[in-house]
Amino acid sequence: MRKFCPECSQAFSPADSGVKTVVFKVGLLGLGTVGTGTAEILLNPAGRHPLLQEIKIHRVGLRQLDKPRQIQLPADLLTTDLEAIVTDPEVDIVVEVMGGLEPARSLMLQAIAQGKHVVTANKAAIARYGDEIFTAANAAGVYVLLEAAVAGGIPVIEPLKQSLCANRIQAITGIINGTTNYILSRMQAEGSDFEQVLADAQALGYAEADPTADVDGLDAADKIAILASLAFGGRIKLPEVYCEGIGKISAADIAYAERLGFVIKLLATARRAAIDAPADAPLQVRVHPTLLPKTHPLASVNGVYNAILIEGDPIGEVMFFGPGAGAGPTASAVVADILNVAAILKVGRAAGSTAALPDGTPLLDPLLACSHQSYCEIAPIEALVTRFYVRFLVKDSPGVIGKLGSCFGEHQVSLESVVQIGRRDQMAEIVVITHDVREANFRQALAAIEQFDLLRQISSVLRVL
Ligand SMILES: NC(=O)c1ccc[n+]([C@@H]2O[C@H](COP(=O)([O-])OP(=O)(O)OC[C@H]3O[C@@H](n4cnc5c(N)ncnc54)[C@H](OP(=O)(O)O)[C@@H]3O)[C@@H](O)[C@H]2O)c1
Repeated sequence: MRKFCPECSQAFSPADSGVKTVVFKVGLLGLGTVGTGTAEILLNPAGRHPLLQEIKIHRVGLRQLDKPRQIQLPADLLTTDLEAIVTDPEVDIVVEVMGGLEPARSLMLQAIAQGKHVVTANKAAIARYGDEIFTAANAAGVYVLLEAAVAGGIPVIEPLKQSLCANRIQAITGIINGTTNYILSRMQAEGSDFEQVLADAQALGYAEADPTADVDGLDAADKIAILASLAFGGRIKLPEVYCEGIGKISAADIAYAERLGFVIKLLATARRAAIDAPADAPLQVRVHPTLLPKTHPLASVNGVYNAILIEGDPIGEVMFFGPGAGAGPTASAVVADILNVAAILKVGRAAGSTAALPDGTPLLDPLLACSHQSYCEIAPIEALVTRFYVRFLVKDSPGVIGKLGSCFGEHQVSLESVVQIGRRDQMAEIVVITHDVREANFRQALAAIEQFDLLRQISSVLRVL
């Protein structure tokens, strides 16, 4: 029997320690990319945390029994009856890595109702049904852990819940979708257009055949809703998260941004208006392409990598960087959650009892469990105060820049720079960067400019950090 060092939790002396081995049984729902990575770690505990040796895969649920697999598991572990797994009295922890909304949501709820702890990588289901799932989990006294749901292998959920919990969080800004970061990084490096790089990314397996969830920012919106909920202590209504994708970014915008000292990234942001804003003040939670100064810490995060910058009081800025997807990285996060649950169960079982409320509901570790009771108020995008980049195509005639400037001024939009970038076919291409302005005022100015007879096109509008 192994004994654990009380300071570092690592095993030492296999001599008689008096610690009883307990086996925790995992029901794995899904044996695709993440399920396979998870099974590989669970089946190869050597050199990893010693508690892994006490975790066993009890059943594995999948859709097709005869599909060729990257991992060979005993046939009697595999089943297409996923309900039988979540209701199996022997299963302690249900690991949901099947994805999708249904039947994933119902299976997680069934597992919770059966008193099982749940580990999930499913941001889509948590962002939509987190309220229902966590309410059920709290009532049943079980954990639902989701480290893998945001930024794959990067530890950010538990750090927000535990390591940073002494901070008042001011803002979270992240590159949390690897596909769009890969596309924008390649457009930047090669000067290529979006459609061309997307097709290539699909051929290489970096983008799905249907890339909508990534390219339109929906996947990043799911993830920032989850992070905002943890950072700001309330639930987030997903439809209130403003979301704009990268489909309209052109090679020209990337080139102009570069000349002006910026890179374009799809940023997901959750922010309090001010550090001393009251706890119930509205939040900004949004996903959109953003011009980022080249000196910003997120500007050099390229390819499929993810990074999350967290600003808090008193820590200041802390950044998490790493692989945001893939079998191994995501499974690393899934198995860490399994170990967290197993460690708590082990302490409870070793002590011979688990702390419970008078009605028998087990008491949960408040740093691991969800304690949110209410919804955060989200400010409308029109209330955002930010800088903007606008690219206009106008008739090349005297006074046109002055006219644009006066129209912006009439709507309280002051300009940081106005640059005539090029000229083609009697047309002038003009790029404007504003100072910080209220989005509603900026939109009104653009609506007025759209009426100009000299205007040919507003080619693009992007926010600037
Ligand atoms: N892939 C990543 O890098 C990554 C990163 C972070 C988070 N995630 C999340 O992790 C989850 C799993 O992703 P994945 O990439 O591993 O998916 P995947 O490769 O498509 O695997 C899904 C697995 O679930 C099984 N499955 C799906 N629906 C089922 C159903 N109705 N009944 C029975 N079995 C079903 C599939 O069975 P068959 O094998 O028989 O088809 C497959 O084994 C998703 O929520 C995803 O968002 C993935």
